[in-house]
Amino acid sequence: MPFIEVSAKDLKTNPFSILYDQWALVSAGGQEPVLTSSGTGQEPVLTSSGTGQEPVLTSSGTGQEPVLNCNTMTVSWGMMGTMWNKPVVTVFIRPQRYTKKFVDQTDTFTLSFYPKEYKKALGLLGSKSGRDGNKIAESGLTPYFVEDTLAFEEAHTIIVCRKLFGDQTLDAVKFVDRKLEPEFYPEKDFHRIYFGEVVKVLVKE
Ligand SMILES: Cc1cc2nc3c(=O)[nH]c(=O)nc-3n(C[C@H](O)[C@H](O)[C@H](O)COP(=O)(O)O)c2cc1C
Repeated sequence: MPFIEVSAKDLKTNPFSILYDQWALVSAGGQEPVLTSSGTGQEPVLTSSGTGQEPVLTSSGTGQEPVLNCNTMTVSWGMMGTMWNKPVVTVFIRPQRYTKKFVDQTDTFTLSFYPKEYKKALGLLGSKSGRDGNKIAESGLTPYFVEDTLAFEEAHTIIVCRKLFGDQTLDAVKFVDRKLEPEFYPEKDFHRIYFGEVVKVLVKE
């Protein structure tokens, strides 16, 4: 089913429940693979296309093959609202996430939402790292590039964001509720905050 573009203000979703209940994917990076000579044979690679349109994701590289230049991860924390007079999405990414590298390297990222039958795929994408193998192929989701940024065909809603502000760490001394830090950050891996302006919203009819 094709996507149609709508205004952010026309979205019918409840921002207090959609992320927490449905989960979402934060994805970043482009379609073009990066050539690397230092592959380990473990990285996901992009091979020549089956249909002529879409990349085919295979299970592993040989160390000489192009490395996939994008990644995705599951999130259930985030915000949608207004900042700097713009419709804005805020996501929170821990420093060890492989996806962070792609969000940092590029100007755009996507936040995408899925029908409930894809929750298992989102569970996989939220428990394995793209650093260790081709979890995108394993998830069964189909890469769909919009504004040169990764999203997936199976989404019911794709929000394309232009990065406005990023890589700001939560500051441990600023927690007013002192219980939050030991509960959520025993490893001191404080989330990094990213604000993205909503530049395109795609939904399925
Ligand atoms: C339901 C759910 C929600 C998650 N929410 C976040 C989040 O908001 N921020 C974050 O940094 N990690 C979150 N994670 C963890 C990442 O998705 C997970 O560590 C993922 O494997 C990272 O993949 P990557 O290393 O390929 O980027 C969540 C995982 C799940 C299952």
